[in-house]
Amino acid sequence: MSTPRVFHNLIGGEFVPAQSGKTFERRNPADTRDVVGIFADSDERDVHAAVEAAKAAFPQWSKVPAPKRGEILLRAAELLHARKEQYSRDLTREMGKPLFEAGGDIVEAIGMAQYAGSEGRRMHGVTTPSELPNKFQMSIRQPIGVVGLITPWNFPMAIASWKMLPAIVCGNTVVIKPGEDASVSTYNLVQCLMEAGLPPGVVNIVTGYGPRAGQPLVEHPDVPVISFTGSTETGRLVYELGARRIKRVSLEMGGKNPLIVMPDADLDLALDGVLWAAFGTTGQRCTATSRLIVHRAVAKELVERIVARAQSLRVGNGLDPATEMGPLVNEKQLQRVLNYIDIGKQEGATLLCGGYRLTGGDYDYGYFIAPTVFTNVTPQMRIAREEIFGPVLSVIEVDSLDEAVAIANDVAYGLSSAIYTRDINAAFRAMQALQAGIVYINAPTIGAEIHLPFGGVKATGNGHREAGPTMLDVFSEWKSVYIDYSGALQRAQIDNAD
Ligand code: UN1
Repeated sequence: MSTPRVFHNLIGGEFVPAQSGKTFERRNPADTRDVVGIFADSDERDVHAAVEAAKAAFPQWSKVPAPKRGEILLRAAELLHARKEQYSRDLTREMGKPLFEAGGDIVEAIGMAQYAGSEGRRMHGVTTPSELPNKFQMSIRQPIGVVGLITPWNFPMAIASWKMLPAIVCGNTVVIKPGEDASVSTYNLVQCLMEAGLPPGVVNIVTGYGPRAGQPLVEHPDVPVISFTGSTETGRLVYELGARRIKRVSLEMGGKNPLIVMPDADLDLALDGVLWAAFGTTGQRCTATSRLIVHRAVAKELVERIVARAQSLRVGNGLDPATEMGPLVNEKQLQRVLNYIDIGKQEGATLLCGGYRLTGGDYDYGYFIAPTVFTNVTPQMRIAREEIFGPVLSVIEVDSLDEAVAIANDVAYGLSSAIYTRDINAAFRAMQALQAGIVYINAPTIGAEIHLPFGGVKATGNGHREAGPTMLDVFSEWKSVYIDYSGALQRAQIDNAD
């Protein structure tokens, strides 16, 4: 194997090692003989230096006209497109998803670069008529300052782009701490931005672990906005730390996403949808289908077909074009998923397929689990309530749409949801009743597009929506402006009507 690449922090346009000199290594989760890179194991000194660089870059960057800021993003989109193949390979090597999915991750970033880039020419504010004569009023968006981003490893390019690109088009500067299991893709994204003309210091990268490198960013007094995607457990801590400092904290956290299949559904379509949403990205999406809620009339047939297909999915190294499902991201996640499989068995669910680590040959060098399906799952079981983040599907049978929706909603989370039916009334009733930030009709729970708001309700989020037009609300501050050109004191909001 070739010498591993060394990645230093990016601070003020310079690549610098961690001040402690410490590093950590990332290996390919499909083949741990392959070292993907050596990264700075940063601590608060590095975070402080990065925040200083971002603060220094802010006055000038925030004054660049938004359409000009957007043009840099549009140029970066072209560069990402030209390098899609290489960046897909880097992404597969660092976190394991198959090449065709890694390409999708890059495509999401390209889409966001186009969308956020063109937002530079809109960034719409509001104008309204005044209640008084000769008075004009509007509300405009303003940059906020240094934005701290903490991103996960499962969509290492896409999610970094969802946060970073709207933040900078709005005129903020950024410090990003990518997930320690997949930092290369953030460097690739930022490389394109720099080549497209992004000034030094506008985006700074600090790699490392949550407690040492993430927490000082959340706690830093000069970082008024934090955007975090990850587990609900960590998100709660981020929110608490941010609240003490009255920060804006945008959280996107766990899911336990239901996919409902009604008896009148197109079962071939539902079958494809379940397989893709449960086992795509090895189930490591916060939008993954982890609960199949299926009407008893079609349960047996659908589940038999799911099991047959799950057993024949080609699991392996994502760099092999024949691979349909890659490994889990690391040993810890592998153990977590195996532990949930044990819990499911102990709870009395029936294991229909999978449920074990794949071993032998090249499997011995990676974190592979066979696609797993549990049936006879009741809504009270932990495997029906807790986020597993792996290729484990829990099947729950129901007798009606109302029961399906009630069970779908009876969990702590509310990110994505889906219903397969040909009955338009059932589809609309479910659309209204499902407690989730996203509802799909006759499509699986994954695959949200970047130009609609993305996020969830209940323990999934705290009311913000990144992506879509609402992304601007996370990364800009409203300022309402009143211009009185009457030349006299006009008293608004006073009872002087008559
Ligand atoms: C995530 O898993 O955090 O909708 C994001 C989807 C992808 C993004 C998933 N576009 O499945």
